[in-house]
Amino acid sequence: EEGLHPPAYPWSHKGPFSTFDHASIRRGYQVYREVCSACHSLDRIAWRNLVGVSHTADEVKAMAEEVEYTDGPNDEGENFQRPGKLSDYMPPPYPNEEAARASNAGALPPDLSLIVKARHGGADYLFSILTGYMEAPAGVEIREGLYYNPYFPGGAISMARALFDGLIEYEDGTPATTSQMAKDVTTFLAWAAEPEHDERKKMGVKAIIVISILTALSVWLKRARFASLK
Ligand code: HEM
Repeated sequence: EEGLHPPAYPWSHKGPFSTFDHASIRRGYQVYREVCSACHSLDRIAWRNLVGVSHTADEVKAMAEEVEYTDGPNDEGENFQRPGKLSDYMPPPYPNEEAARASNAGALPPDLSLIVKARHGGADYLFSILTGYMEAPAGVEIREGLYYNPYFPGGAISMARALFDGLIEYEDGTPATTSQMAKDVTTFLAWAAEPEHDERKKMGVKAIIVISILTALSVWLKRARFASLK
């Protein structure tokens, strides 16, 4: 059974020439780190990917260093713990799928790296899921451990509502309402699914300019060449 169709929201990165709202990506990272990363991995994003996108290199280095990574083997053939580096990937919340399911009543929180691309409805769907929790309508039975969310296919999701007004304190002072956090984390995850997005659109604009010039030139050349035959 399909979920409720999400409304189309006016994402700032939606237009053919528009780029991401980078302040929103930065806030969205904060939501991911403080809320979602408790259960969801983000395997395809390395610390270095954040540099120049949402944070400065120094900020990202400091954030990475707060995380302990297992490395090795060293000369003695042993693994060892060391602080994170820019080249390390986002640390997963659980060591493996078994542990993830054990902590989530059997359900598996999916990796969020590509979720915006993987799910029908993309950013609109994600925002709707995060803000769409409500009481089940009269007559709809929801099994123990599941939650009613009309946007989720089937209507019963094993993720509890994660966002509540005032849950976090944004470092830039933006009021952390449920919808603000949902918007920001969705923007962050839309970026994560397509980190080359802004570059692609900028290249598109350049390509259009170059192609326009070449077209004008070839029209002009053709006219000049055949002028004597008119
Ligand atoms: C599923 C996002 C926080 C546990 C999902 C899905 C998304 C998502 C997009 C997939 C829905 C689908 O399959 O279409 C987020 C975001 C979070 C967040 C953006 C932070 C704002 C959490 C937290 C937990 C959690 C804190 C654990 C306490 C789960 C589980 C599922 C899930 C168990 C699987 C649900 C199912 O298949 O029924 N989440 N999540 N999530 N999430 Fe989260």
